[in-house]
Amino acid sequence: MKTQDRSLEGKVAVVAGAGPGIGRAAALALARDGADVAVVARRGPPLEALAAEIAEETGRRVVPVTADLGDLAQCESLVERTVDTLGRLDALVNVATLGGPRSAVADMDWEGYLESVHFNVVATMKLCSLAAARMKAHSGGSIVNIGSLSSTTLELKLSRYTSTKAAMVVASKTMAREVGRDGIRVNVVTPGYTSGEGLDRMFREMAEHTGGDAEELSARAARETALHRHVDPEDIAEAVLFLVSERGRNITGVELHVNAGLWIG
Ligand SMILES: NC(=O)c1ccc[n+]([C@@H]2O[C@H](COP(=O)([O-])OP(=O)(O)OC[C@H]3O[C@@H](n4cnc5c(N)ncnc54)[C@H](OP(=O)(O)O)[C@@H]3O)[C@@H](O)[C@H]2O)c1
Repeated sequence: MKTQDRSLEGKVAVVAGAGPGIGRAAALALARDGADVAVVARRGPPLEALAAEIAEETGRRVVPVTADLGDLAQCESLVERTVDTLGRLDALVNVATLGGPRSAVADMDWEGYLESVHFNVVATMKLCSLAAARMKAHSGGSIVNIGSLSSTTLELKLSRYTSTKAAMVVASKTMAREVGRDGIRVNVVTPGYTSGEGLDRMFREMAEHTGGDAEELSARAARETALHRHVDPEDIAEAVLFLVSERGRNITGVELHVNAGLWIG
């Protein structure tokens, strides 16, 4: 899926949490639209391969930055490294998350819960704030955080994940009100079931639990959406690109659902 213009020429984006799914698709879409991109993850070799693949396809500078996004000091140094290497910072896309195991509130591992609060709220919003400080220097920018539909559908035994993602959404919307005067927009893109290894694993686990067939469970879930299909990482990337680019210049503080009509509220 290619965009028609290269409106991000001269801009620099960070994709925080660049694996094979949404992170890869977002980094590729941003680079195709002209941005130089810093891609961030913990494991060096797959990240370097991803950066090389996107640079080769788009001709943009794509820099792999290995960092643990849960470490606030590493968040600071990755922003510094991006600006030192690529010259500026105009866009941040926060993809990485800490889900944690399924558990009812009654059985919660509270230390683990705090880790999700730290990762999904504190570290994510700290990175937003570090990026916004750099964006302000160039009269603005755009931040897109990735939400979770399960924060709305309130799936059982997922409160560690859903509540921390919901807190991140509220913090993002609040930040949008605070930094608008600096020309900075903050939005959330919330995927539905998004195809890829994570979704395949989820249906495999459901099948093991229920004794069903993973492919049938996946197909049934797709049929439950208004459009009768799952979303692809490229669909999420298109929404991210729209919000990052000038085409989204008057949109801030929104949560944009991309879920093929899995949930319509
Ligand atoms: N797939 C779905 O159906 C679905 C549905 C709703 C919401 N989401 C949201 O989509 C996002 C994930 O999408 P995805 O799985 O497609 O992403 P992805 O691009 O496949 O992967 C994200 C990458 O983040 C990196 N990461 C994880 N923890 C990190 C850390 N502490 N520090 C640095 N990097 C880290 C991982 O690489 P390393 O292991 O190398 O660090 C991972 O490959 C999450 O925000 C999730 O809540 C997904």
